[in-house]
Amino acid sequence: MKISLSLTTGFAATCVLALTLSAQAANPMPPAATKTGVTYAGDIKVILDKSCAKCHSGDRPKAKLKLDTLAGILKGSRNGKVIIVGDSAKSELVQAAAHTTEDSDEWMPPAKAVDRFPNLTADQIGLVRAWIDQGAK
Ligand code: HEC
Repeated sequence: MKISLSLTTGFAATCVLALTLSAQAANPMPPAATKTGVTYAGDIKVILDKSCAKCHSGDRPKAKLKLDTLAGILKGSRNGKVIIVGDSAKSELVQAAAHTTEDSDEWMPPAKAVDRFPNLTADQIGLVRAWIDQGAK
């Protein structure tokens, strides 16, 4: 009896987990902030330092992408550019942070790390978008 109960509980837990995982559908892209004069030094660095830079800096940055300097962001990853200056909606960095891609493996920070590195809020994504749209200065 005890065994069958724990089996049932285990099965139920697995179902809940499966449902939770499959519920990770792509999200809508938050709008760009209306703020003007957005700069990396003034607005963006503080955001990326908190949620991204720990993994994307140093001698062996993940995906060879450095997110702790403006030069690193503009340079991009082992796969090329991660932002398209002037087009934030098409910028991979924004899509990754806003969780708009179909493949949740591309979402940043990685799901397993969000307890240490918080997801960007819609307002923060809006600022990053405004910064890219305004020329990524
Ligand atoms: C806990 C570590 C960690 C944190 C924090 C993190 N990343 Fe990543 N990131 C990775 C890893 C690992 C990969 C490589 C994934 C792969 O190879 O499939 C990656 C890949 C990427 C890529 C794809 C690069 C490419 O072209 O292959 C982008 C863009 C990216 N991260 C942006 C971000 C942004 C923006 C943040 C913050 C909002 C962030 N990351 C936070 C670990 C992290």
